[in-house]
Amino acid sequence: MNRRHFLKSGSLAALAATAYSQAPLMAALPSMEPIKITDIKVITTSPERAHLVVVKVETSEPGLYGWGCATFTQRALTVVTAVEEYLKPFLIGKNPDNIEGLYQSMYVSSYWRNGPVLNNAISGVEMALWDIKGKRAGMPVYQLLGGKARFAADLYAHASGSTFEQVEDSIRSWMEKGYRHIRAQFMSRRGGSYGSGGFDPNKHPNLPPETRLFEPDKYVRTIPKMFKHLRDKLGFGIHLLHDTHERINNAQALYLGKALEPYELFFWEDPLPPEEVNFFKQLRSHTTTPIAMGELFNNPNEWIDIVQNQYIDFIRVHLSQIGGLGPGRKLAAFCEPYGVRTAWHGPGDNSPIGHAAGIALDLACQNFGIQEQHIFNEPAQEVFEGCLKIENGYCYANEAPGWGIEVNEEKAKKYPWDRETPFDYHWGETRKPDGSIIKP
Ligand code: CO
Repeated sequence: MNRRHFLKSGSLAALAATAYSQAPLMAALPSMEPIKITDIKVITTSPERAHLVVVKVETSEPGLYGWGCATFTQRALTVVTAVEEYLKPFLIGKNPDNIEGLYQSMYVSSYWRNGPVLNNAISGVEMALWDIKGKRAGMPVYQLLGGKARFAADLYAHASGSTFEQVEDSIRSWMEKGYRHIRAQFMSRRGGSYGSGGFDPNKHPNLPPETRLFEPDKYVRTIPKMFKHLRDKLGFGIHLLHDTHERINNAQALYLGKALEPYELFFWEDPLPPEEVNFFKQLRSHTTTPIAMGELFNNPNEWIDIVQNQYIDFIRVHLSQIGGLGPGRKLAAFCEPYGVRTAWHGPGDNSPIGHAAGIALDLACQNFGIQEQHIFNEPAQEVFEGCLKIENGYCYANEAPGWGIEVNEEKAKKYPWDRETPFDYHWGETRKPDGSIIKP
């Protein structure tokens, strides 16, 4: 075979071209020699109110380690125990490069599985393994997922107030900063979050003193009036969102979904608790208000039906709660052909590492919908060096390898958890006037 003939035959020509281009490439790649997990540490810190749990996975390669988010702030100590006492001895000596294999192995290692404590513990390790992989490859994690589908993640900001005018003013201040999407919440005049608050003991002598009163029928009648006010004053040029936080019953959800239709919400978040997931078929068929669901989901069996039947428009899980970045990537890919978009949970009870994982998916997934914003305070930015940049209502990934975030362990110690006031958002004390518990 002469040289010309050789190059003409397709596969051989391709081989020659590969051989030609590989020499400089090989030289540029970092060493991918097998390495081992040598230690796993848990860092607990609270630069804001939430009890953050971050996991550090150390390796046999000097200076190579990764950070992951395992934050389940309401039961934070249980996650620390799960990592330190169970996952650490299980993982030491194993190869951190095998992320999928280690995830599957951790997942079944407890035999009983899929709860929030164990999923968050796994996520702490899993996200740290992606950080290590990114550092080894010399790439930010979004590159390992296939690279960018968009230049940044569009964020939604939180506006609230205890009068309609206060909510309106709060929205205007975000609009002035360039935001295109804003969540509008009406707070109780008694100061509680999400429309619940303290109460007048003279009116409700039988309620325990720690009660946060929530009246679902009042709530579902008030919220459409709030949106009427907002649309009358602000027009339709801004995307408005609302979070019911699961606290109403099925009939109230039907009423509210229909009553909100004239105000054209971008999405209506968590109308029902996860126990009512079978009602989404009826809810979907009765209202055109776009539905976001999933903040409390742990387990794929909770979303398979509502996604493949297209009963919801947005899936919004807490990534560490479902086990980390890989489970989030699989969930996004599952949703894509059904037209369900992502809206990962992004509050302050998610560390900057957890936010970085959400943004990596936001950039890499075609079916990204919107990202919840949290702006970390200065102490948090001191502890987590390299917090993601937010500009004009967009969040940008770090371009440094891995998550591009370094946890300053010394500074983390300056903000220990406040054990006296456990962070539970009063979920267990939110009651109806008759004393029964409101299910978030
Ligand atoms: Co929510």
